[in-house]
Amino acid sequence: MATQGFRILFKHVTAVLVWISLLALCEACVSPPSCQCDMIGPAKRPRGRKVNCSKQPNPFKTLTGITFPPDSVTLDLSFNKLVQLKQRSFIQLSKLKKL
Ligand SMILES: *[C@@H]1O[C@H](CO)[C@@H](O)[C@H](O)[C@H]1NC(C)=O
Repeated sequence: MATQGFRILFKHVTAVLVWISLLALCEACVSPPSCQCDMIGPAKRPRGRKVNCSKQPNPFKTLTGITFPPDSVTLDLSFNKLVQLKQRSFIQLSKLKKL
């Protein structure tokens, strides 16, 4: 009796865990969600992220309020409609090599 309840509970916990990991995988690295992100380097020791914002449905006009992951190594902002860049837009991106 108790064992069965335990099993059902276990199933639920597993389902929730699967969901959480799926959500983590789909989690957009840029906020608000827009760009495509890929890890660069070996999976065990990633060197950072490649952030590609060139194919997003709503091109950026400004980078105000947009957060890029601090480990971005490349950032593709082509095809956006940026009209102004602020001095501090990229300040936390210490690994950035290519823009
Ligand atoms: C970003 O994606 C576009 C479209 O898929 C591609 O043409 C472009 O080369 C990519 N940029 C980088 C830096 O990979």
